[in-house]
Amino acid sequence: MHRRAFLHRFAAGAAGAALGSSLAPLIGCRNGAGGNAFDSAADIAPRRKQPTGSTREVRLVAREAEVELGPGEVYRTWMYDGQFPGPEIRLTQGERLVVRIENQLPDGTTIHWHGIPVPNDMDGVPRLTQEPIAPGETFTYDFVAEPAGSYLYHSHVGLQIDRGLIAPLIIEEREPHVDYDREYSLILDDYLSGVPEPLEGGMMGRSMMRDGRRGRMRGGMMAQVPPYDAMLINGRLPSDPPSFEARQGERIRLRLLNPSGASTFRFAIQEHPILVTHADGQPVEPVTVDSLDISMGERYDVVVETDNPGAWAIVATPIEGDFPPARAVLRYADAAANAPSSWSAPSGDRPLQLGDLQSLEPASLRSPDRTFDLTLSGGMMMSDTWTIDGQAYPDAEPLVVDQGEVVRVRMTNHSPMIHPMHLHGHFFRVGNVMKDTVLVPPHMGQVTFDFLADNPGRWLFHCHNIYHMEAGMVREVRVE
Ligand code: C2O
Ligand code: CU
Repeated sequence: MHRRAFLHRFAAGAAGAALGSSLAPLIGCRNGAGGNAFDSAADIAPRRKQPTGSTREVRLVAREAEVELGPGEVYRTWMYDGQFPGPEIRLTQGERLVVRIENQLPDGTTIHWHGIPVPNDMDGVPRLTQEPIAPGETFTYDFVAEPAGSYLYHSHVGLQIDRGLIAPLIIEEREPHVDYDREYSLILDDYLSGVPEPLEGGMMGRSMMRDGRRGRMRGGMMAQVPPYDAMLINGRLPSDPPSFEARQGERIRLRLLNPSGASTFRFAIQEHPILVTHADGQPVEPVTVDSLDISMGERYDVVVETDNPGAWAIVATPIEGDFPPARAVLRYADAAANAPSSWSAPSGDRPLQLGDLQSLEPASLRSPDRTFDLTLSGGMMMSDTWTIDGQAYPDAEPLVVDQGEVVRVRMTNHSPMIHPMHLHGHFFRVGNVMKDTVLVPPHMGQVTFDFLADNPGRWLFHCHNIYHMEAGMVREVRVE
């Protein structure tokens, strides 16, 4: 492996205390060749917006702490403010958000504000928009909270998402386009109790060096799915599911968020159709479905009408790997039972399709000034990289575009796995809907999106499966 690639991956890894001390010299080193070292985004002035509301100050501490996922199920992991998932930040559209994060972890970290088109230097991408925040250091993020929507914040260093550094961020709209009586946020996640490690293909070595002890080759040629312990909703094990209370005749808004490391969930509720109202936080024409697939980094807001008293199963079944589903309960206030009589996942015949989604205000974009035709590949035997058009980041060319251009990205998935492709700094238009993350189906699935490159800077475009991301499925999109 190239020394540069090695340094990148080593620095990006979750290697624990030993890494902390070696972080400083790594940050100092610059390597112009691929343009991937942090050399300040200052050569392209970031776009800054004016707040239209008050200033909200938030303090966060990233540190190791204990989490109880169910009775007696206590684990030590990395968290924001000792909470898992991390504390929800909720504010109103147009407010200025100032977050001061103190890093008490033994490794460098950053926060990425997933989905929010922040100024480039607030985007939290190590070595692209900032140096990792070293252990013991603090960093202040400062940006305007808009547009309204359901978002996430998470670490963007290495595999730290699977350490637990994930949390919801809700920007409330001034005037929602749908009525509802109450709302809940549901965080769908995959839980790994150990230290996340890159999934090895044919090559041995990285994880051994990283651990400083003998590596553990997992059985088989290609361990494509991490060894998760369980699937969770709001940090609860399926054996101790969270319960969401309702009264008959209400409209309940559920914000479904998937900050997981490597899981796409099929979401459904027994005996209740799902009215989809927002995709990746942005309002859509409401559409009724029986189930929806939500991939890593995606968010859907839905409304459920409570017209069928009882206690019903909310089920989120992972599509890849065969893990038992995550569970929750929709429980009517006067239901006799606390738990549903069965946990079977409902199978309706109306799964949400991308083509069902129609934004209330889709960007009207002229025909593209520039098109990138990209293949997504990997998952082959004897290879441990995942690539975009044959290149594995950081040994990958940036996609350079001019500010103001309309850019088309066409992706074809040559691999057997799902890739939720996420673009930083922008919403894109896919079909008739505005999103920032889109699921590209396996086995030659094709998705095309267009976006207006109106946010100058160096942005990441990548698969939000963090194992694919760490194994190269990343490009820089440079808006000059
Ligand atoms: Cu959710 Cu590159 O991020
Ligand atoms: Cu992927």
